[in-house]
Amino acid sequence: MAAFLFGLLLFAMQSPPIPSTPAAYSSPSPLPPPGDNGSAGVVHPNGTVQRLPDIVIIGVRKGGTRALIEMLSLHSAVAAAQNEVHFFDWESHFQKGLPWYVRQMPYALPGQLTVEKTPAYFTAGKVPGRLHRVNPDAKLLLILRDPTERVLSDYTQVSYNRLLKHKRHRPIEEVLVKDGEVNLDYKALNRSLYHVHMQNWLRYFPLGSVHVVDGDALIRDPFPEVQRVERFLRLPPQIDASNFYFNRTKGFYCLRDRGRERCLHDSKGRAHPRVAPDILHKLYRFFHEPNRKFFELVGRTFDWN
Ligand code: A3P
Repeated sequence: MAAFLFGLLLFAMQSPPIPSTPAAYSSPSPLPPPGDNGSAGVVHPNGTVQRLPDIVIIGVRKGGTRALIEMLSLHSAVAAAQNEVHFFDWESHFQKGLPWYVRQMPYALPGQLTVEKTPAYFTAGKVPGRLHRVNPDAKLLLILRDPTERVLSDYTQVSYNRLLKHKRHRPIEEVLVKDGEVNLDYKALNRSLYHVHMQNWLRYFPLGSVHVVDGDALIRDPFPEVQRVERFLRLPPQIDASNFYFNRTKGFYCLRDRGRERCLHDSKGRAHPRVAPDILHKLYRFFHEPNRKFFELVGRTFDWN
């Protein structure tokens, strides 16, 4: 009974206040002043806590973000948000303030790290500054794939969504090429210009706060990539090779967790459309220079092009 009352007291004390706008701020902001993360978290009577994430998977869309968060969740010291939160990139969510954000977080046990993933963060201009103001010590995970593959994956996802909404099918050539050249207006192309977005993140976070996961390697053989993530997060090594098995029907690795086996949802690992070799070639050529710039930024190369 005493423990229950104590829990209730803690809960009441730690419920995050609605952040007020300090006088020094001319425009109203849903965030507290810099240096004050404004929300220690919500402590629940059972001892779990909802708090700001220690780790954010910032993208990239179609990079393998779902696979990454599911694989990371195999670790007992990780508590992961189930849904994409879109706090820093959607104004309607951002305006709800930090207490709302905290309430989207999982119930973490003492000692667990909290993680959320919102793949759109990587390419949304305002996000790094906003996140830095809330948590300058956040550890960022960025999972990237060959930018051409990522464009095809992005196109495939959008095509499925259009089909569901009974919208006209747009052949891949129609979106990828304009006047015989790569169509620079195609949004999916911009999302694969990794150096542009990375530069923006590095204005706020040091390179040491960002770990780039090789999404192509994660598909081929997830365990070594996951081990690298464990090391970056300073987690005791716990995830094991036996946590992964290749499922021939799915054509991807699936997860084994305490005897239970599961693959990712059918929307992950879809077949991509066939693209004429000359267009594919154009795309690879187009990404050559942006890729080089990205490698220079992060001091590491990837097996793209
Ligand atoms: P495709 O569906 O184009 O193959 P995200 O979760 O960021 O949307 O990324 C989706 C991509 O994750 C998929 O793209 C797939 O290639 C990749 N992926 C990586 N590991 C996977 C796994 N074990 N099972 C299914 N998809 C995986």
